[in-house]
Amino acid sequence: MLMLEKLWNVIQNEIKKSNNIKMLDSIKIKYLGKNGVFNNYIKDLKNFSLEEKKKYILIINTIKKKTIYQINIRKNELYKYILKTRIQNEKIDISLPGRKIEYGSIHPIRYSINYIKDFFYKLGFQSISGFEIEDEYHNFDALNIPKNHPSRNDQDTFWLGENRLLRTQTSSMQIHIMKKNKPPMRFIFPGKVYRNDYDATHTPMFHQVEGLIVEKNINFTHLKWIIYNFIHDFFSNKISIRFRPSYFPFTVPSAEVDIMTNNKTWLEVLGCGMVHPLVLKNVNINSNIYSACAFGLGVERITMLRYGISDIRSFFENDLRFIKQFKYNI
Ligand code: DAH
Repeated sequence: MLMLEKLWNVIQNEIKKSNNIKMLDSIKIKYLGKNGVFNNYIKDLKNFSLEEKKKYILIINTIKKKTIYQINIRKNELYKYILKTRIQNEKIDISLPGRKIEYGSIHPIRYSINYIKDFFYKLGFQSISGFEIEDEYHNFDALNIPKNHPSRNDQDTFWLGENRLLRTQTSSMQIHIMKKNKPPMRFIFPGKVYRNDYDATHTPMFHQVEGLIVEKNINFTHLKWIIYNFIHDFFSNKISIRFRPSYFPFTVPSAEVDIMTNNKTWLEVLGCGMVHPLVLKNVNINSNIYSACAFGLGVERITMLRYGISDIRSFFENDLRFIKQFKYNI
């Protein structure tokens, strides 16, 4: 079968001469393809005797294998060559100065929230952020806030419909969590709250962290201890604080906590109290067995006091000159 021997020489030559992948691929199709040379050879054997067929098919298959092998070798050579020329052409100028990457910084509000979380984690609290869209029941009714309470007005609350609103306080989370869990429990609820207000000390969105403990025999001294220690931790030990009797519909007794500012005036930083028995009743907790205390603090307020920031709006203006001052907090 002289023709077949010649064929192998021709193929070898073609493969050797191919100098790009495309050429090599077309050689592959030409010989090994469905209508390629090898298959045609096999088709031409149909009039041969069985003996001869066997013999030639063996020879054809050997050449086929050699062809595949040779094509793969050439392909590798070509890939290496392509890579080499690419590397040569794409010279890297190592003398160029590097690009500077500016580090971001943690926003002071986020920093405060993280700080508060860390403090309360150490006392066995869990943290849940909850929903920002609430219904009237969780935000007001279940918290014992009367139907005619002024905070329900459009002037204070962003209503989204008859019964939907942007939560005005994280206290709404107390209801969700007490309904869902069995006491004992200790939670903090950090998150965004919304009120229709805008001036140097109020923004329509701000952050609160709510705290809640439901246990047997929890009393006001526990609440006082926790808040006292938290405030001293957050503002350093130098600060003076006082508990002032106050009123919230969902706590009894209620108190507000003030701290002494640099110009010797008292400034309110949080509200707190023993959770009202009616609120516990609303969430099916027996107030003869369990007692609960709660507190709610404004994150912007305490952050402003800690860093001496005079306008709350600077937190949300994204002025880099302001934000950059907190870099060390990373
Ligand atoms: N929800 C109150 C507010 O937004 C703050 C507050 C006061 C939360 C007393 C409490 C609490 O949990 O016991 O003004």
